[in-house]
Parts: sequence; structure tokens; C-alpha cells
Amino acid sequence: MGRYDTSIARYEEAKKVLAGGVSSNFRYHAMPAPLAIERGEGAYLWDADGNRYIDFVLGNGPAFLGHSPRPVLDAVRASLDRGQAFTTVHKAEIDLARRLCEIVPCAERVRFDVSGTQVGQVAIRLARAHTGRAKVVKFEGHYHGWADNIFASVAPGLNEAGPRDNPRVLAQSLGQPGNIRDDLIVQPYNDLAVLTDTVNARADEIAAIVLEPVACNCGVIPPEPGYLEGMRGLCDDHGIVLVFDEVITGFRVALGGAQARYGVTPDLAVFAKAAAAGFPLAVVAGRAGAMEGVTRGVAHGGTYNGVTSSIAACGASVEMLAANGGAIYGKVERDGQALMEGLREIARRRRLPLHAQGLGQIFSTTFAGDPPLLNYRDYKATDEPMRARFVQGLQDRGVRVTARGTWFMPAVLTDEDIAFVLDAADATAAAI
Ligand SMILES: Cc1ncc(COP(=O)(O)O)c(C=O)c1O
Repeated sequence: MGRYDTSIARYEEAKKVLAGGVSSNFRYHAMPAPLAIERGEGAYLWDADGNRYIDFVLGNGPAFLGHSPRPVLDAVRASLDRGQAFTTVHKAEIDLARRLCEIVPCAERVRFDVSGTQVGQVAIRLARAHTGRAKVVKFEGHYHGWADNIFASVAPGLNEAGPRDNPRVLAQSLGQPGNIRDDLIVQPYNDLAVLTDTVNARADEIAAIVLEPVACNCGVIPPEPGYLEGMRGLCDDHGIVLVFDEVITGFRVALGGAQARYGVTPDLAVFAKAAAAGFPLAVVAGRAGAMEGVTRGVAHGGTYNGVTSSIAACGASVEMLAANGGAIYGKVERDGQALMEGLREIARRRRLPLHAQGLGQIFSTTFAGDPPLLNYRDYKATDEPMRARFVQGLQDRGVRVTARGTWFMPAVLTDEDIAFVLDAADATAAAI
């Protein structure tokens, strides 16, 4: 029996009926086949071949509290017998909206939705309506969902990406319309001087600047000191709507998201993933002036927005995260720093060009390149084949990390788990 026999067989079976064998294009990467996961509990997953993994993928972020957190499941169960979808407003929805307005610095109003992609669309539409302008500034390497108008320059090859200071706008999928270039401006992250020049030259066309405040989809790159503040100032000076995509950072890097952690308040922000522990819930939040666009002609719909089970899941998640003054964030910060430090020690001892960077709650491991990574091009210049060998070696030893080298930290690791992971990393480092 091979370690992945059942996963491989399941994938072959799936491909006959499920297009591509998976339900999202971002699930192909698992090696040698997408893992046939049977069960998740806490920090662990078990596959159909009987292998256990300490999970740093966490469904690409949602399971920050670990898989199947009891209080969230209990709250969802309690909601089920009272009906799911009413197409009106319900009490728990109002209570949760009020709670989020207390927690999230920019939130004077919120709207619920079901996915990060969709709330990104809402934010863009609100910003365009608010400003009467069309263009959106986004940053190379940042991901804001797979919708036509924003799925650009997320993972371009360095040979096609154009000049560093003026990157090309590159569509990321066949079937996207050719005109996405007309309304997007792509910028290098972490370069305030370039952004300032761009905004000064084109301010009256720009509706929004949209970014991942910590660039989690390309190497987990924190903002340089003063960068977010400078961007806030530019937006204020030119009447541009500043949109933080906190789909990953929200409820993860601090209870109030990156905006709370870095003390810079955007006009609009979008959340999903860790907000509801794996249940489909997303939030667009922001200043009343922009958010109230929905009462002045900006359309936002969705049959499943605010369904009772997702609201219950988010409400219970938020209370778990907020308990004891948000003590969970300190614990994960310590665990994540311990892991990064342990990985750096292994790298030194094994003479491996392994680089760990990020925050305690989410970090990345890359190889070679020229650390610290400050923008997408730094990340892209790292050694991808070596990263893939490291990720595979970890998976073979019971530690599951994303193919991008991102480690989503679960909040429920024990000291034994951390020791296990570092042993697996050491053995992998020795092997590669
Ligand atoms: C920063 C960011 N924004 C938006 C999205 C899209 O969210 P969803 O997959 O829920 O549509 C993602 C998904 O990974 C993301 O990482």
C-alpha cells in the first residue's frame, strides 16, 4: 500500500463526474493527488488512507479556530430547527451586525454575503458609485477573488509582467473579457513613491485603491512602516475610496483585522474565511457614507446572504475569538513566532536557503530569492521547485502546508504539535 493510494483512486473516480476532479481550480496542487480527507478535528485532518496531518491549510484560512470548534457547531445546530432562509431580516443578523460595528474600526455599517469574491465586487461597486469614477488600483500578486473585473496580475510570470514600476494588467483566466485593462491600474506593493506618482497623475479617474493590507497571497508580506498611512493620506487628499481586502487578515491577525493591528482605517473592508469557521459567510463593512450607497441605487443581492446557520457560525466564532480580551491572538502569535524561529534554526543548521516571514497568525516559507520579500516580484523570484519539494516532504511526514508556502496557523496547537512540526521540517530539510 502506498501512502496516498486511496487519494489517488478517489481523484480518478472524481474526474469522471466532477469537472477536473475538484470543485475549485485552486485545489489541483495537492500532490500526488488532492488528499481524500475524511475528517477534521482541531488542528488535525485524517485522510482516507489513515494518514494524520497537522493542518496549516485550514481550508485556505477559515478554520482558524481549528476544525469543528464545538461552540460554533452548537450555535449552528441550535439555529437549524428554526429555519434557514427567510429573505428578510432576523434578530441574530442585527445583533451580529452591531457586534461587528463594535469590533471592526471602519465598520459603521455592514452587509452580509457568502464569499470573499462577492464582497469584493460589492466594495468595488460601492466605491465607483460613491466617487463617480471608474478605475481601480490593485497590486501585483494580490488576490481579490476570481471575478472578471479584478482577477488580474495575481501570479504573472516575471517575463510577461512588464516594468516593475508600471506592471502590465494581465488577465488570469481564459474567458475573461479583453477590456479588464481599461478599468484597472496595477501597482507594485510597498512602494509609496510609485503609488504617489500614479495617483497624482490620474486621481480624477480613480475610484478605489484595493489591497490586501498584508500581502498574504504572495509570501505573506507585511506593509512597510508608513506605507498604509501614506496610502490613507493619498486617498484622503484625492477623494479615493480605500478598500482593505481582509478576507485572510480579518479576524486572524487581530480581532479587528489588519486595520486594527496597523492602526490605519480604510473606508471599506471585506471579510470572509476566519469570520465563520468554515461556514459560508462574508462581510462588507465600512463608513456609512459609502455603505449607504445600497439605499441610493447600488445593487447588492444574494439569496443566501445572512442565512441563519452562517450568522450563527459567525456570531459564535467572534465570541470565541474575543474571549478573555482576545487572548487567543497572543497565543497564536507566540506559537507562530516559535515555529518560524524553529524553522530558521533548521535552515541555519542544514545550510538551506529557507526563509520564514510573516506574522504569528500567518507566515510563509520560501527558498533562495533575496529576503526579506517586500513585493510580489521578490516572492516570484524565490525557488519554486525547492518550495514544492519542501511542501511535499512535510505532507509526507504529516504536516500540511499550502503549495504557495503559506502557513495558516490554527489557534489550537499544543507544544507537542510544534515539536512534531519542527521534527518533520528537520527531516524534510535533511532530505532535500
Ligand atoms: C485576500 C482574498 N480576497 C478574496 C478572496 C476570495 O474569497 P472566496 O474564495 O471566498 O471567494 C480570497 C480567497 O482566497 C483571498 O485570499
